[in-house]
Amino acid sequence: MIERTLSIIKPDGVKNGLTGKIIRLFEENGFEIKAIKKVHLSRSEAEGFYYVHKERPFFNSLVSFMTEGPIVLIVLSAENAILKNRELMGATNPKDAKEGTIRKMYAESIERNVVHGSDSLESAKFEIPYFFNVFEIL
Ligand code: CMP
Repeated sequence: MIERTLSIIKPDGVKNGLTGKIIRLFEENGFEIKAIKKVHLSRSEAEGFYYVHKERPFFNSLVSFMTEGPIVLIVLSAENAILKNRELMGATNPKDAKEGTIRKMYAESIERNVVHGSDSLESAKFEIPYFFNVFEIL
């Protein structure tokens, strides 16, 4: 099934000059870029995006991290895009990520892990319209 997934290049990835490399990896791995924009989230925007984690001990730290600098939001499309992007990103904790994955190559910690990707169809259905309206997705 052709799916859409939301990718985010997080503040660490943008600051470390990885935007182009990561976009190139998406294209080389057969993803189509349906929409893309750079934004700097407010605290309330980041809190709303990560509301499913609001009871977690790392929530405040995660929101601080995600608002410390600009991020790049990307809607990707491909066959099995959600799982395929999770495989390309690697495990949340870079220590557990496989060789060749984005997080293995570039992430410094479980929090500062360079990229986000929707973890299910349900998440993608919330996450994509959180940031993009229908006219922005080609
Ligand atoms: P992400 O895929 O964006 O989903 C939630 C984010 O919370 C995750 O990537 C990490 O950036 C962060 N995160 C998840 N687990 C932890 C943890 N145990 N400690 C700190 N941050 C975490």
